[in-house]
Amino acid sequence: MEQQYDRRKLEQEFDSLPEASPIADIDPFKGDIIAMVGALALDFLELGADDVLLDIGTGRGRWAVAASQHCKKVIGIDISKRMLEDARVNVASAGAENVEFYRGSFEDPCEETDISQKNVNKIVAIYSLHHLTDSMKAEAISKLSAMLKRPGRIVVGDIMWFDDPGKYRDEWDEVYFDDSETDHPASISFMREIFEKSGAEEIEILQIHPLVGLICASFS
Ligand SMILES: C[S@@+](CC[C@H](N)C(=O)[O-])C[C@H]1O[C@@H](n2cnc3c(N)ncnc32)[C@H](O)[C@@H]1O
Repeated sequence: MEQQYDRRKLEQEFDSLPEASPIADIDPFKGDIIAMVGALALDFLELGADDVLLDIGTGRGRWAVAASQHCKKVIGIDISKRMLEDARVNVASAGAENVEFYRGSFEDPCEETDISQKNVNKIVAIYSLHHLTDSMKAEAISKLSAMLKRPGRIVVGDIMWFDDPGKYRDEWDEVYFDDSETDHPASISFMREIFEKSGAEEIEILQIHPLVGLICASFS
């Protein structure tokens, strides 16, 4: 079936997400697969005191808050107004002063502010890129890598197929995949290819589950 992207539907989905939803929990380390992916992504980012991190699809900002202790600044963007409101509350209660949130997307990161002027040298996306169609993923990674200050790094932790997803139907809930019309995970070979085409010099891939993985792409 042809992949379709419907931003309005996605926004509605996340604007009306229940407070206790595990896919955008405010507790980063609660022990499910997204928590594991996010914690590993923070390690792979190798954040340093001068780094400026862009968190795309920041949700309630759990990874933005966790990362803020290890770098100069974190900029979180999301298409959902509600997620951004919750993220601002989360950051205020954590007392993190080096985190900013803006409306923005993979397609248009600069919707509300010009991210290209912010010296971003690290980018992370946890469980958000799979909402794009494959052609949109390729375009987004190409644009983001062009915007990235060198040396830089992009880390994506998400649903991605290392094997036929049909073989793991009874594990879909566990990895938060429900085959809905807003989910378009890609094969690991496609994911590798888009990073290769965007000029990454080094690409590390970590399989966390047959349907979930992490890609760390470095640009020098
Ligand atoms: C499953 S949640 C994960 C949130 C967060 N990364 C975390 O791990 O807690 C996916 C997030 O991606 C956002 N999102 C979906 N499509 C997006 C797009 N095209 N650009 C930016 N964010 C998007 C959603 O609004 C939602 O907040």
